[in-house]
Amino acid sequence: LKFVCASNDGVDKHMIWLIGLKNIFARQLPNMPREYIVRLLMDRNHKSVMVIRRNTVVGGITYRPYISQNFGEIAFCAIAADEQVKGYGTRLMNHLKQHARDVDGLTHFLTYADNNAVGYFVKQGFTKEIYLDKERWQGYIKDYDGGILMECHIDPKLPYTD
Ligand code: ACO
Repeated sequence: LKFVCASNDGVDKHMIWLIGLKNIFARQLPNMPREYIVRLLMDRNHKSVMVIRRNTVVGGITYRPYISQNFGEIAFCAIAADEQVKGYGTRLMNHLKQHARDVDGLTHFLTYADNNAVGYFVKQGFTKEIYLDKERWQGYIKDYDGGILMECHIDPKLPYTD
């Protein structure tokens, strides 16, 4: 099992995994238009952290780092149906936090969580209270009324992965 961060960089393997992740998102996030998923996944401002098992993508998180603002917006998060509730979602989020902190220099994540995923995000340290100054994120993330805005602070020192 490995965790890989990739974007639309033309590397064959990355492109194959990104297409696999697109199919998981399309199935697991039925309210998201497929074209919108493809657009953000392939947008070079977005990155995806993926769970790879036996060279196949099992799930992932697509996010946009706003480097100047030190926060990231999680756009999509899903694990394939037959692989859920095995701990992959938690390990994925931990890898994302580690990568976002150590590579992008981020201190926070924001996301619009689907109602049924709020429990998962709470377990990953997200809150419905937004402590981040509005000036840091307003105008950067788009309003979206299909979910609940949630925030997560990334610990500056904690080792999130082993
Ligand atoms: N509601 C409440 N708790 C949950 C949920 C949920 N929907 N999903 C998982 N959990 C809990 C698990 O019971 C577990 O709790 P525990 O640590 O006490 O045992 C913990 O969260 C972590 O479980 P994992 O096995 O690590 O999570 P999983 O691999 O199943 O991934 C995920 C969670 C990504 C939400 C997955 O269930 C999924 O893909 N769901 C469908 C798509 C979805 O809703 N995605 C989020 C939409 S919002 C967005 O994309 C911005």
